[in-house]
Amino acid sequence: MDKKTIRFKIKRQDGPDASPYWEEFEIPWAPKHNVVSSLMEIRRNPVNIQGERVRPVVWDSNCMEEVCGACTMLINGFPRQACSTLVDSLPQPIVLEPLTKFPVVRDLQVDREKMFQALLQVKAWVDIDGSWDIHEGGPRISQKDWQKTYEFARCMTCGCCMEVCPQFHPGSAFIGPAPLGQVHKTVHNPTGKLQAEERLHAIMGDGGITDCGNAQNCIQACPKDIPLTDAIADLGRKTTIQWLKDIFLT
Ligand code: SF4
Ligand code: SF4
Ligand code: FES
Repeated sequence: MDKKTIRFKIKRQDGPDASPYWEEFEIPWAPKHNVVSSLMEIRRNPVNIQGERVRPVVWDSNCMEEVCGACTMLINGFPRQACSTLVDSLPQPIVLEPLTKFPVVRDLQVDREKMFQALLQVKAWVDIDGSWDIHEGGPRISQKDWQKTYEFARCMTCGCCMEVCPQFHPGSAFIGPAPLGQVHKTVHNPTGKLQAEERLHAIMGDGGITDCGNAQNCIQACPKDIPLTDAIADLGRKTTIQWLKDIFLT
């Protein structure tokens, strides 16, 4: 690989309704460049390989340590975090594209609102509403349950699993693997369990767990190795039991 320059081919889009186009940039090679630091270099001097000064490239990033998920984009065709992807590990030109399952805002920036709405729909949090005081500190969590739920607490809503899921796309109602992982996390939490029925009902209708085609792409794509398919299998069992309870006990 030529270590003197780094070449990028970037899919650009001037706004949500504009047509996409490709633009190439070249920056001087420097040690330990990651994709975000390279984009910053391009932004400092936004001149394409034709020598034209162009609008600086837009992308999202925040934590710079693979925790917030904001910088997720397609890098050489794979969804991953731009802040933790070192350019020396990639063949050139390095091709950058926005995620395809969420609407593009500009260039590499997408609107992941659909995923956040799905988290709201399944109530992906544990209420702390004063019950701790009423129940002498609330239910304790065992080390085993803590370990089980911690795996899912590492989710950074990056959207990699949603990007590769064939069932999740702009035209589908499916809430996708990341929100299902969070349902699994909350129904295994001793306090979250108190509202398990509500959370299970939230994934039993249209767009819920039965829309999962079990392609298992999601688990391969998750940068945090979250066992999403285990969660989906567990929720499949739990929703079946809930369905039987709804029929025979109500
Ligand atoms: S198992 Fe397949 S269909 Fe189900 S959520 Fe994962 S990628 Fe999507
Ligand atoms: S489950 Fe994994 S791939 Fe999916 S949003 Fe969370 S961290 Fe990203
Ligand atoms: S900037 Fe937060 S994950 Fe990359």
